[in-house]
Amino acid sequence: MADTPDTPDSPARPPSRRPLSPYHDAPKLPTEPITIGDIVKGDGPVMLEIGPGRGRFALEFCAARPDWRVLAIEIRRKSSHILDARMRARGWSERARCFADDAREVLPRIGPDGSVDAAAIHFPDPWWKARHNKRLVVTDALVPELARLVRPGGLVLVQTDVPHRAEAYYPRFAEHPAFESLGNPYVDDSPFAPARSNREAIAIVDGLPVYRMVFRRK
Ligand SMILES: C[S@@+](CC[C@H](N)C(=O)[O-])C[C@H]1O[C@@H](n2cnc3c(N)ncnc32)[C@H](O)[C@@H]1O
Repeated sequence: MADTPDTPDSPARPPSRRPLSPYHDAPKLPTEPITIGDIVKGDGPVMLEIGPGRGRFALEFCAARPDWRVLAIEIRRKSSHILDARMRARGWSERARCFADDAREVLPRIGPDGSVDAAAIHFPDPWWKARHNKRLVVTDALVPELARLVRPGGLVLVQTDVPHRAEAYYPRFAEHPAFESLGNPYVDDSPFAPARSNREAIAIVDGLPVYRMVFRRK
């Protein structure tokens, strides 16, 4: 049978019927080497947040510290898109951005060394099955990347409400030659308070223990 030409009544079938996600164009970091100053502008200190989720910490931190820049990396497109749009809506887009990327992939491309003044990782790694271990963020591979990026004297906050996660995270940093712990092993409060992550704020309201670890780059 001869091919039937496309007409307005019989359009060519599109390759996929699945609609594009409204978040498909969430900003992503360049695929080449990245200079932090090209991404978050100005000369203020830089906060790097890994996995901001709904972004409460980044927004509260920006509001409390208008002299700081914030670079957030969130693997989920929806969360990343929403946080970046909220930063823009508050007029902070020059100094605060969120990108939809896997922090484990992009951190090695970010520089220059020592260009981050503080880093925050709040309640990471919400996976408990062995087959999900490949998703973990706070691994032995992350610590040397943060040691490279954080300037001497800069702080890294890692906090969780999961005791066995805290027990695993602590020695990764405390035993790395570039870091010293400011807690024994935990600290009472975040050095970045009153800015709180979404999970942190819920834990505080619910009276749940939060295991906060703060490490200073030697
Ligand atoms: C349990 S949530 C905590 C969210 C937020 N930090 C808080 O405390 O409310 C963990 C977050 O890390 C993000 N995440 C997981 N793996 C990541 C990766 N490789 N790179 C960047 N973000 C990641 C998740 O998408 C999620 O938003």
